[in-house]
Amino acid sequence: MKTPHNALRLEAVNLTHKASLIEQQWSPRVVAEMNDYQFKVVRIEGEFIWHSHPETDEAFIVLEGELLIDLPHGTVRVRPGELYVVPRGIEHRTGARTEAKLMMIEPRGVLNTGHEGGERTAPNDQWI
Ligand code: NI
Repeated sequence: MKTPHNALRLEAVNLTHKASLIEQQWSPRVVAEMNDYQFKVVRIEGEFIWHSHPETDEAFIVLEGELLIDLPHGTVRVRPGELYVVPRGIEHRTGARTEAKLMMIEPRGVLNTGHEGGERTAPNDQWI
């Protein structure tokens, strides 16, 4: 279904501002779509759960704070202005010692908990 969010606009999307509007941490919100991909912002703090996405890579861009991505062989630190792409099928766990604001880019329909599911699964297609 085509959403009205893709209508032609005369203003840019301010990612940090959008992230600051989100009430709860670990609740990704869609700010834009491009073809079948979604741009999502999220505020995180503490540690997520280990999971993977067998069907897709997952891109993280840090807006504020420091993102830690635990991978099978080590931890990647991603700072503001930096990007990291977790390859499809690779187990990962995101975290931040103090609050971090991120943008994620992934295909529409990807769940934040991958195929693990569980109580930390956030609803999809929540725009802000
Ligand atoms: Ni993931």
